Amino acid sequence: MIIGSNLLFFENLPSTNTHAADLLKKSNLQEGTIIYTNYQSAGRGYSGNRWESEDGKNLLISIVLFPSFINPSDQFLISMTISLGICDFLMRFITDCSIKWPNDIYVNNDKIAGILIESTVTSDQIEYTIAGIGLNINQEKFLGNAPNPVSLQLLSGLNYDLALCLSKLRIDLDKRYKQLIAGNSRMIKEEYISRLYRLNKWCKFRDIKGIYTGKILAVGDYGRINIEKQNGEINEYSFKEIEFIL
Ligand code: BTN
Repeated sequence: MIIGSNLLFFENLPSTNTHAADLLKKSNLQEGTIIYTNYQSAGRGYSGNRWESEDGKNLLISIVLFPSFINPSDQFLISMTISLGICDFLMRFITDCSIKWPNDIYVNNDKIAGILIESTVTSDQIEYTIAGIGLNINQEKFLGNAPNPVSLQLLSGLNYDLALCLSKLRIDLDKRYKQLIAGNSRMIKEEYISRLYRLNKWCKFRDIKGIYTGKILAVGDYGRINIEKQNGEINEYSFKEIEFIL
């Protein structure tokens, strides 16, 4: 086992991703180390957003990886791998989930998990990656301003054992990371695309020019999304250049 070979638990932390980065500066962490906590006082989401999570209700983890075998220009493969591992975990409990590009995990139209991947690249090599995951398990009320949060408990009415969830999640993430190490990146990319939220469905997007109806065709190089307009034009966007209208 690589992912989860070493587990470091902290009752509370400002942020598991920040703590993982601090530990990496001071010590040698083994690849696959998981830093996890019950509560984050300054949990971070992407674009500088906060990640809200009630004390002791959800999985808040950061995984330390050394994916030096991945070219920095292909680093979106790490996001794809982690997204698929979370989907595999969720499919143990529910019938379906999808990946809202670039890496939100959705059930129907609601977000159940967020991923914050932070990599350090030196001399054309990924030195380390911290893959932070916030996965909503038992939380029933969300007080922050996240638009559409959901948890496993809200979906099923059941309460879940967090320790058991973590042990299953690490198995599913480990399996996917080993596929990446084994060079199965084409398969990972294909599976990721097949799981995309709103793949091949006409729906509304907003880009710099305004709102339009389009359909997601694929995710190409550098993790850019390809969206077809109704006039047949195909546009490619990086993160932040396009917004889903939910
Ligand atoms: C997002 O959807 O905005 C990404 C959310 C990522 C949240 C997780 S919780 C564990 C790890 N530590 C953090 O501070 N953030 C990530």
